[in-house]
Amino acid sequence: MARAEIAARTLRTDRWWLPPLTTFVGLLLISIYAAFRTFQGDFYWVDQYHYLTPMYSPCLTEECVPAAAHFGQWFPALPGFLTPPVIIIPFLLGFRITCYYYRKAYYRAAWASPPACAVAEPHSKYTGETKFPLIAQNLHRYFFYAASLLLLINIYDAVLAFGTGVGLGNIILLANVALLGAYTLSCHSCRHIAGGRLKHFSKHPVRYWMWTQISKLNNKHMQLAWASLIFVCLTDLYVALVASGTISDLRFIN
Ligand code: FES
Repeated sequence: MARAEIAARTLRTDRWWLPPLTTFVGLLLISIYAAFRTFQGDFYWVDQYHYLTPMYSPCLTEECVPAAAHFGQWFPALPGFLTPPVIIIPFLLGFRITCYYYRKAYYRAAWASPPACAVAEPHSKYTGETKFPLIAQNLHRYFFYAASLLLLINIYDAVLAFGTGVGLGNIILLANVALLGAYTLSCHSCRHIAGGRLKHFSKHPVRYWMWTQISKLNNKHMQLAWASLIFVCLTDLYVALVASGTISDLRFIN
């Protein structure tokens, strides 16, 4: 449908540009932090308390500290500036990039397509997600499977760390997997896997119950997307600070 013949880019008088700008700055800062930590290649493991940052889990190459490689060192040491997270990051990034919420967020914030409701976009043509490369957004369900597997590994790491006692790091690792779990469960694909393609909910009470519960979480998908993304960075920062000796872990039970 053609846009109404309005000369002005928008008739909105509120600060419609603030949400996309905030999103842009937030995603940029997190991307810079994540890139720095990925390529730092250090301070991802606290040997004393067995804290492993989720950004390096699973650690699968020969340069991983052996104790941090909970699932073995499957790959040889990576060349040049490459570090162990480059093996898992494509899956984590793929999951977030193809997420229904993040798509809305960066289409608005980074591509101005459109920047906000009732604000014209600068692009003259709209092809939606039917052509390459955006058709790849349909891979979201497969990234969901991969991210779920990585989440299980993060849960395993968090539980394993309790073997040395209980400290603030344990609580943070636990809170991190709880938030990541809530975000993953609230995924639209997860909701569809639980209750999609059914003609009669009444004939599938268990799936209907799961769909109902996931739908409640799904209502908070945006909040969970941000909370889990920020918290995973804070978890990583805490592990890095303890691993580098900058701060000591607050211990409750030794
Ligand atoms: Fe956001 Fe699946 S829709 S994670």
